[in-house]
Amino acid sequence: MRTKRRIIVTSALPYANGDIHIGHLVEYLQTDFWVRFQKMRGHDCLYVCADDTHGTPIMVRARNEGITPEALIARSHQQHSRDFADCEVAFDNYYTTHSEENRAYSGLIFRSLEAGGHIVSRQLPQLYCPHDAMFLPDRFVKGICPKCQAEGQYGDACDACGATYAAEELREARCVVCGRAPVTRDSEHLFVELEHFRAYLQAWVPQHTARDVSNKLLEWFGEPLRGWDISRDAPYFGFEIPGHPGKFFYVWVDAPIGYMAALQNWCTRTGDSFDAWWQNPATELYHFIGKDIVRFHCLFWPAMLQSAGLRGPDQVFVHGFLTVNGEKMSKSKGTFISARTYLRHLDAASLRFYYACKLNGTTDDLDLNLDDFIHRVNSDLVGKITNLASRGAQMLHKSLGGRMGSLDPAGQELLASAQARAEAVAAAYEARDFCRVQVEVREIADRANQYFDSRAPWALVKSDPEAARLVLTTTLNLFRVLAIYLKPILPAYVAKVEKLLGDAPYGWDDVATVITDRPVGGYEYLAKRLEKEQVEKMIEESRPENREPTSGAAAPVAPKPAASAAPNPAAPPAAVAPPAVTAAEGAAKGIIDYDTFAKADLRVAKIVTAELVEGADKLLRLQVDLGEGQPLRQIFAGIRKCYEPASLVGRCVVVVANLAPRKMRFGISEGMVLAASNADGSLFVVAPDAGALPGVGVK
Ligand code: 2FM
Ligand code: ZN
Repeated sequence: MRTKRRIIVTSALPYANGDIHIGHLVEYLQTDFWVRFQKMRGHDCLYVCADDTHGTPIMVRARNEGITPEALIARSHQQHSRDFADCEVAFDNYYTTHSEENRAYSGLIFRSLEAGGHIVSRQLPQLYCPHDAMFLPDRFVKGICPKCQAEGQYGDACDACGATYAAEELREARCVVCGRAPVTRDSEHLFVELEHFRAYLQAWVPQHTARDVSNKLLEWFGEPLRGWDISRDAPYFGFEIPGHPGKFFYVWVDAPIGYMAALQNWCTRTGDSFDAWWQNPATELYHFIGKDIVRFHCLFWPAMLQSAGLRGPDQVFVHGFLTVNGEKMSKSKGTFISARTYLRHLDAASLRFYYACKLNGTTDDLDLNLDDFIHRVNSDLVGKITNLASRGAQMLHKSLGGRMGSLDPAGQELLASAQARAEAVAAAYEARDFCRVQVEVREIADRANQYFDSRAPWALVKSDPEAARLVLTTTLNLFRVLAIYLKPILPAYVAKVEKLLGDAPYGWDDVATVITDRPVGGYEYLAKRLEKEQVEKMIEESRPENREPTSGAAAPVAPKPAASAAPNPAAPPAAVAPPAVTAAEGAAKGIIDYDTFAKADLRVAKIVTAELVEGADKLLRLQVDLGEGQPLRQIFAGIRKCYEPASLVGRCVVVVANLAPRKMRFGISEGMVLAASNADGSLFVVAPDAGALPGVGVK
């Protein structure tokens, strides 16, 4: 009997402002393989994860979409959950960092750091907008890149040249809220004195990380460990720091605490005890992470936990990055593939099978070579493995009444040698060496195929049907062993095998049984060959010109530009970017893609004059002021039926400012005023929020 283990497993929490992509999946799939393996071995293993929901990029994105951060993260949570489920990643709890549990644990850990004297406060210069009376996070500032002079760059990094810099270094910096120049002001920041944890961490790191990871980390100890800035000024989407009004936890503080919050939430829902899991010395805790976030998990996180008297991870398992065809994933090459796009063209099992072939438990990068991917799935999963079942079961049905018999002596020997690999395969799983699992599986499959081919049951069935039954029974038993070994990697596939062979869901120890003298179910397809065209289509759909909005299956809440007489490239926004519509298809259906819509330059403008247009019973002629000293613009808007011209004068509206001027019978229309219709078809001009000023972008 194996001793039952209690294990908590986590994967890094994906940010709520982006889609799950095939790079993320390197981590979630390997964690899922490992967790499923532990469960098959009969251990109590919990896999918890969550969306990482706080921070400036999420605020900026929500603002750009005209929705609240809460709405944005709710939408992402739904999409991420669906993507994971469809990739067969089975969390015990997929939670969110924006939760009361997380707020409570974050407060608890911070207070213990503070009580231990590990928090210091320092003044830092930061950009401040006097007009909006707020400190500006880097992404709330735009200006000219100090390195390459590209315009319109954010305060942390330049999209054009990749340079990173401090916001104060931007040239001609502007507040993105009001468009005015910010000033530099000192702001109080709170720091964790990491140096206080030097001795603890120096001992901790080599015990809890692989050698290459700890060697890298220990390089940091050559000099004093720098304090970690854990506070951000409002506005910030996150948790306010207890006792420090107006200061918020930097997203990386409450992100790992989200592991605990997800577990706490699971315990509350299932009536279990948090302490019996997290604080139980017998419980093992493992974090799976990518090599880019080692510092957070192996320095800051153990220090935080130690100060609060909470247990830390037993091991942090670090993996490498994904490359596609030997290169970094690239949007322009179409190799930055979202999980959703992948799933539209290919099945989860193929990716799971391929990643498993390439994952060996080290920090090496994993290359998804697309030709090799097709080849491996077709030759191994379909050709070597699945064929055993399809040929075995179908022949048994066609000629032998669908009933298994017993095994011939050679078959018994072969099966015994396959079963004897169980602990070797288990050791490979335990070591996260899924590649070795696949090698073991391939070897057994090769021997099974040799056996099958050498016995030629397709001929034998005519001359000696009972001998053929022995061969097919042996083959199906060998296939069954393979299925058990592959179950953590191919759960949905193996669920069909269980049904085919009339078995209950496999546990690891079921490998020791032999099935004989029983009927076999009707053969259902288990795995399909991959075709190159499917892969090519997936790449094509992932190119920038064909991409959907990131994380945006629900369309941005956009006004309906029904009222303008100017050309109308943005209609109808309510239907923008449903999933599965490419730009080309969208254009054909009168739907526009996200990127096209995103080109619209929406500005606040004030209506200066409004008058009827002689000979046009739907139009009003408006003169609008976009501010910033530009000349007034003339716009013809189709809102006459709903508005008295005088009632519009002085009102702020939203204008699409970058439409090509359109020559009309009555003059030139230089933009579009946005209006939305309600259920009875009445039109309403769209008004910006209070405080908007002419000339300021609202996008
Ligand atoms: O790097 C990232 O994508 C982070 N969202 C990972 C957070 S992991 C954990 F600490 F929450
Ligand atoms: Zn401002």
